[in-house]
Amino acid sequence: MKPREIIPDVHYVGAQDFDRRLFDALIPLPDGTSYNAYLVRGRDMTALIDAVEPAMLHVLQDRLKDVPRIDYVVSNHTEQDHSGGLPWVLERYPEARLLSSEPAKPMLVDHLGLDPAQIRTVADGERLDLGGKTLRFIYTPWVHWPETMSTYLEEDKVLFSCDWFGSHMAQTDLFVDGVDCILGEAKRYYAEIMMPFRKIVQKNLDKIKDLEVRLIAPSHGPIHRDPSSIIQAYRDWADDKPHNTVVIPWVTMHGSTALLVERLVNGLAERGVTAHPFNMATADIGKLAMTLVDAATIVVAAPTVHVGPHPMALGAVVLANALRPKVRFAAIMGSFGWAGKMADVIKAAMPNLKVELLPTVICKGLPRPADLAAVDALAEAIAAKHREAGLF
Ligand code: FEO
Repeated sequence: MKPREIIPDVHYVGAQDFDRRLFDALIPLPDGTSYNAYLVRGRDMTALIDAVEPAMLHVLQDRLKDVPRIDYVVSNHTEQDHSGGLPWVLERYPEARLLSSEPAKPMLVDHLGLDPAQIRTVADGERLDLGGKTLRFIYTPWVHWPETMSTYLEEDKVLFSCDWFGSHMAQTDLFVDGVDCILGEAKRYYAEIMMPFRKIVQKNLDKIKDLEVRLIAPSHGPIHRDPSSIIQAYRDWADDKPHNTVVIPWVTMHGSTALLVERLVNGLAERGVTAHPFNMATADIGKLAMTLVDAATIVVAAPTVHVGPHPMALGAVVLANALRPKVRFAAIMGSFGWAGKMADVIKAAMPNLKVELLPTVICKGLPRPADLAAVDALAEAIAAKHREAGLF
């Protein structure tokens, strides 16, 4: 495998991982992923930007086999899917200096066992002239870890953004084909990786707003030739205002909770509110996470197992609590056989969600007319809240 030219003197040397089906042992990857690395050649010096996941190191090794010298290796982000190949790179190119942000240095030592003497930190805004190719390092914390930075190639106006603006997608074409397709993949990625740091994403977007960017070359997925589309999508996803949508993670054991969910979904639809039910027994949790990006309300619906909520419904709550979407309202529905603390356990599991709790609806066994009327009232309350919030 050879380096692949993106623009003159800038080559792709990363790896496409078509077979990977799960990231972080959590989020499904229907289209695989990639670990992108880039080689920038100046008149005088050459820099490698990021490395690859250790499992795909052989691809990086093959692409670099005819590259005799690397002067600098830029580590934009310490997570191992981009840094795992660095020990090999530094061994293969002992003359190379590893460049990282200040906070990244101890993390590279901790995660990879590197010698601190091998690492030179760069300041926010610092430049490095390779000879007609100038790299500018821009600290962009929390997209994805606190140490993360982006690297901007001034002459060609390429932003090597690492995780942000990335997408889990493996393909042989290096550039984005269809904007709609990539925005779906990028949103799945944003939901898992960026959403918890939404406020800082806003700050990072402001930080690069005056930067002229012709290409965004992320560390996952294809390169953006139309940076404005993905930047605008990020602005919308990170924006404080949710959409007129309700996410309903639910589980049923004997059908009672399913009846409540069916009633709520129809009740919301009749009132002009978009409902997204996810049966957690079969749901793609990546899709659940994506839907949480815009949702104004989450309604968790669970039967009772012993005295607590069904673990699959509780798992959705734990995930939502970790991802910290911008939801403003929450409610709990469900059923029980004899007794239980299902609702209390669910409420206690969502401390990160800054939500107004709407009335709980719980039935004993099959829902009676009064229970279904309570679901209708919940649908009405949600619609009213969304209307008051100006969502429709
Ligand atoms: Fe793709 Fe946060 O690593």
